[in-house]
Amino acid sequence: MILKDKTSLVTGAGNGIGRAVAVRLAKEGSTVYVNDVSLEAATSTSDLINEMGLDAVPVASDVSDSIGVKAMVDRIAAERPGLDILVHCAAIQTEAAFFDIKIEEWKKIIDVNLNGTFNICQACARVMKENEVEDGRSRGKIVTMSSIHDVIPRLNKFHYDASKGGVAIFTKELALALAPYRINVNSIAPGAIETPMNRNVLADETVKKHVEGRIPWGRMGYSEEVADLVLFLVSGSAEYITGDIIRIDGGRSLFNG
Ligand SMILES: NC(=O)c1ccc[n+]([C@@H]2O[C@H](COP(=O)([O-])OP(=O)(O)OC[C@H]3O[C@@H](n4cnc5c(N)ncnc54)[C@H](O)[C@@H]3O)[C@@H](O)[C@H]2O)c1
Repeated sequence: MILKDKTSLVTGAGNGIGRAVAVRLAKEGSTVYVNDVSLEAATSTSDLINEMGLDAVPVASDVSDSIGVKAMVDRIAAERPGLDILVHCAAIQTEAAFFDIKIEEWKKIIDVNLNGTFNICQACARVMKENEVEDGRSRGKIVTMSSIHDVIPRLNKFHYDASKGGVAIFTKELALALAPYRINVNSIAPGAIETPMNRNVLADETVKKHVEGRIPWGRMGYSEEVADLVLFLVSGSAEYITGDIIRIDGGRSLFNG
């Protein structure tokens, strides 16, 4: 159990990648605060973890609400001696052709995906920088979720992809700002992963085959595979890795077709 006595916060953990991450961290001994905008979704994940005899607490909050985020993180800091790990998975995605995107839709995606990343990272880093650790050791680990489409363009996801490009450069700048405090900050850039976010792809065998045809590995990824990478990044084995964007995509970003 490599995360014994650690406290983690996983956002967007009611579904998909966040849910798999929350389970993985709890299995390694961490207490996991399971965040989602939906209390029902957060509770379904924390119940799953608690039923395994492991430690999880549901916390509902919308990451785009800076006041709610601060209250959530303050509550965790009051309940536990410190916050060691943030894995920020919460995000939303919609699809629209360029001339059809309404400014309200654009703002909503940026607000949740990019502003939400700022809110949660600032609130958590404020707590992490006070963690007491042995000389030179990491005070905390932050992992954000960008996307391979932070740099690879495609059609009809302008707002989502712009938000993820923002998350990628924000992550690098944050790594610079937090290095003096010995807080590791990295981002994972997944390709196509089988989660509710991709429900439209999963529901249509023809579309799914088309997506898989562009992935050299020949299939979409699984949330548990992303969770394994998260575990490495938040472990003591990754103390000297910071400011990196790590792709996990079955080779999709190598494919130019
Ligand atoms: N699935 C993929 O193929 C893929 C690819 C690249 C990047 N990503 C990124 O990985 C992360 C996880 O994606 P996923 O596929 O598991 O998504 P998902 O839709 O399956 O789950 C996202 C969760 O976030 C929650 N959420 C949405 N808005 C929120 C808010 N404002 N505050 C708190 N929680 C909120 C949702 O309720 C949901 O439970 C996201 O950042 C996503 O952009 C996913």
